Amino acid sequence: MNKKFLDRIYKSDLDLSINQLYKEWASSYEDELNGNKYVTPRRCADMLMKYCSNPRIKVLDLGCGTGLSGEALHARGFHQIDGLDLSSEMLTLAKDKAIYSRLINDDLNTLVKLDQKYNGMIAAGVISPGHANPETINVALSLLQSPGIFVFSLNDHALADSAFIKEVETILSSSSVEILEEEYGDHIIDINLKAKIFAIRSKYWNASTD
Ligand SMILES: C[S@@+](CC[C@H](N)C(=O)[O-])C[C@H]1O[C@@H](n2cnc3c(N)ncnc32)[C@H](O)[C@@H]1O
Repeated sequence: MNKKFLDRIYKSDLDLSINQLYKEWASSYEDELNGNKYVTPRRCADMLMKYCSNPRIKVLDLGCGTGLSGEALHARGFHQIDGLDLSSEMLTLAKDKAIYSRLINDDLNTLVKLDQKYNGMIAAGVISPGHANPETINVALSLLQSPGIFVFSLNDHALADSAFIKEVETILSSSSVEILEEEYGDHIIDINLKAKIFAIRSKYWNASTD
């Protein structure tokens, strides 16, 4: 299967901005990812379902891209899904799927503020060097309504980047974060890339505050 953009995306000397890369990639993204057996959206949706068994909850798909992750959520019965992404070209394709209630064009590396909170959130293939930085984990926790769950993936490239993973570990070891599960497994099967999926929540939720 063609790996035109997959060959470029993980290079540390990427010669264009991440926004420009996804602008160019948008129209062929799904063919390339599906063709190389990208399974992380399914894994993230399964883990969210495991901890949020009520599919009527409001879910935010961070870095939703063209909507592969939203489709995986939808297939598991989540039907109140909003999406957020940096790339307007990726969002245009996500909109065509008609599965998102709302799509937000924003950069997770800035202080994202939204006018509502969510019960569940996923970031499939988004928190990674050159993409959304580790601080996204704190941003996500701030957008969750207690006792909401955040599920995200870190691929082998993120796991092997010592500076990046140190930042992630510092955030995850904070006294306010509870890690419910970590599962290492397939990410993009045909390029033999794996990813660890995390399910976390804030430790300090209190049912009486909801
Ligand atoms: C590998 S794609 C994953 C898309 C989708 N979640 C999926 O599983 O197919 C990464 C997505 O993250 C988005 N992204 C990268 N950095 C971002 C940032 N700082 N803020 C918001 N979105 C970002 C890209 O535009 C792209 O759509």
